[in-house]
Amino acid sequence: MPYDIDLIRSEFPSLAVTDDNQARVYFDNPGGTQICQRSIDRMNDYLVRANTNTHGPFITSRLTDHLIEETHEALADFVGASDPGEIVFGQNMTTLTLHLSRSIGRTLGPEDEVVVTRMDHDANISPWLLMARDAGCTVRWIDFDPSTYRYDLASIDAAITSKTKLVAVNYASNAIGTVNDVAMVVERAHAVGALVYVDAVQFAPHFLTDVNAINCDFLTCSAYKFYGPHQGLVWGRRELLESLEPYKVRPADNTLPSRFETGTQSHEGMAATLGAIDHFEWIGATMGGGGETRRDRLTSGFKVMAEYEKDLCQHLVDGLLAIPGVTVHGLTASEDMSDRVPTVGIVKAGEHPDAMAEKLAAANIFVWPGHYYAIEVIERLGLTDAGGMLRIGLGQYNTREEVDALLNVLDS
Ligand SMILES: Cc1ncc(COP(=O)(O)O)c(C=O)c1O
Repeated sequence: MPYDIDLIRSEFPSLAVTDDNQARVYFDNPGGTQICQRSIDRMNDYLVRANTNTHGPFITSRLTDHLIEETHEALADFVGASDPGEIVFGQNMTTLTLHLSRSIGRTLGPEDEVVVTRMDHDANISPWLLMARDAGCTVRWIDFDPSTYRYDLASIDAAITSKTKLVAVNYASNAIGTVNDVAMVVERAHAVGALVYVDAVQFAPHFLTDVNAINCDFLTCSAYKFYGPHQGLVWGRRELLESLEPYKVRPADNTLPSRFETGTQSHEGMAATLGAIDHFEWIGATMGGGGETRRDRLTSGFKVMAEYEKDLCQHLVDGLLAIPGVTVHGLTASEDMSDRVPTVGIVKAGEHPDAMAEKLAAANIFVWPGHYYAIEVIERLGLTDAGGMLRIGLGQYNTREEVDALLNVLDS
């Protein structure tokens, strides 16, 4: 079966919600997607049948332990890792990154350097700036070219030196949508013995992540951006997670992944995250080529979904470029569509992004104006004083008709 958009949409109950009989158009996906039915079902089931704390001798606790194990296994498959102990859950990407930066910072000193980029969301910048401040490290920056929307390779060469200990890099931008060649950055960082921390929050909803292919040391993403609940996770190499000192309480288990999963976790969140993985697997099994293992099914699911999103993104970009006064800040050529996620930042001459978002909201079309914490991107594009950009973020359930409705409002 080819990608069946009606079937996909039927898996998202919130898509049927209307306001005064007006349908909702969710283009606010980069800020958080709608949740799929499988996530809701898994969460409900956990809360009804298994809700309690861990490591007890009774049935609910055993079910909870089992769920936690199952979810770590599923998420290891999701990021392409083989060791479920390398998956650490937490409240969100920001909290997990601040948490890990504290442990990594203990290994650094004034002679060391840390590299961050101008294309990142601040959640992959500020934790490292704070860490560098506390450890007395020097901070260097990787820049991007505001005319090509790609990393400036010369600035990568200049930023990564023999003193670099950590490079924090983004896989896909939450503002301009570029998918970066992180494997190349990892190669350069590893050549000088530096670790690489990859922010895959905006990549993971659109393409299947493979930590082995990019060979990074840490990779983080958030389930609420890929049709799951509000929860974050980070994958890290076992030897690193075992050698770093976790900031934890004394009685807490010191083995992986528990040593970094502080306090009582959101078990219902884990259940719902597992449901989101089930959902991608279901796409692969029904609309993709299927496959024997969960990873195979995820691979085929992401393949058909990415093709659909690519076409839809091209349709959006072409429509935007045809509107007088609109500038798309990001890759627009058809040959570049595979190098971007369908998150499109625009400005329109004479219109403030806030006003455009209000106008779209009046038509029940949801988009974000502003900087969405990508403050360095907006500054680099010279758009800070102009109120940033309007961000239109497509997801797996959006349609051409919805895109056309948005284009009509923007063209009016
Ligand atoms: C690229 C990117 N990184 C990090 C974050 C922060 O994620 P969280 O809300 O899970 O902390 C976001 C959120 O929008 C993001 O888009």
